[in-house]
Amino acid sequence: MKFTRKNILGIADLSREEIEGILETALMFSEVNTRAIKKVPTLRGRTVINVFFENSTRTRTSFELAGKRLSADVVNFTSSSSALSKGESLLDTAKNLAAMQPDILVCRHSCAGASHILARYLQSTSVINAGDGSHEHPSQALLDMMTVLKVRKKVDGLRVAIVGDISHSRVARSNIYCFQKMGASVSVVGPASMMPSAIKDLGVDVHYNLKQGIEGADIIMMLRIQMERIKQSPFPSLREYSRYFGLNLETIKTLKKDALIMHPGPVNRGVEIDPGIADGPYSVILDQVTNGVAVRMALLYLLSNAQSMNL
Ligand code: CP
Repeated sequence: MKFTRKNILGIADLSREEIEGILETALMFSEVNTRAIKKVPTLRGRTVINVFFENSTRTRTSFELAGKRLSADVVNFTSSSSALSKGESLLDTAKNLAAMQPDILVCRHSCAGASHILARYLQSTSVINAGDGSHEHPSQALLDMMTVLKVRKKVDGLRVAIVGDISHSRVARSNIYCFQKMGASVSVVGPASMMPSAIKDLGVDVHYNLKQGIEGADIIMMLRIQMERIKQSPFPSLREYSRYFGLNLETIKTLKKDALIMHPGPVNRGVEIDPGIADGPYSVILDQVTNGVAVRMALLYLLSNAQSMNL
């Protein structure tokens, strides 16, 4: 695959061939992550700036590790200690960072479309969307896909159930696009108050009952309730939510024997998932995190390569 994109803004933009190409590259880099010395000189002299306007544990750390393992110089920008507090806008912040000539900006922002705006204005810096509001989280969907492919080898024909706060989840949206492009069928499951009104337009089946929604599924992806994006509680109490939509030891009795349980993190144990399931034999939650480093190495490498080809 000849990867020529300048930016990675969403899975909606990518073809199946591009997704497969990114995952093949990630598989190649995952070997580096098992070595005693986890470093290769591939991106020596390149600069990556992580520009995170929202909190993150997994995404920011793994982009930083990915850059460092490829020998790039990695700088972490934290909005709380920046000139944003003096009134500087997102775009001015990004233009000033770009004026220092980094090769790649990795951006997380609470507003949908923030990375798209940066990509439009930054001529010679690539932008990776590390999560924009409730819109997309492409590197998460790619690492989820890599996790499934490592176990199941093939995604065509699989049945995926995404459970929880679908309305506010960028992970749900990116995974719906990604699994469909790779040939899986996707169901979404959750309370009506957490389901976008036009969700059927994405070609998914919609369920409001957990048992029915996960019946026969090969992949069950549990989501956390995105409290930071919710103004008015969409259910009477957390206990009630957990009772009807939390995955517990009773509900998993009906799962297929080879089903995989996924969660993008952070996990709210005892709310959307029982701790025994999060740590149990069906769970691939920590494999998702491990694969995240390799996927992000692949994205940094492919964008840098595309920049060199377009010089
Ligand atoms: N999955 C995910 O985006 O986690 P973080 O918020 O910790 O980056």
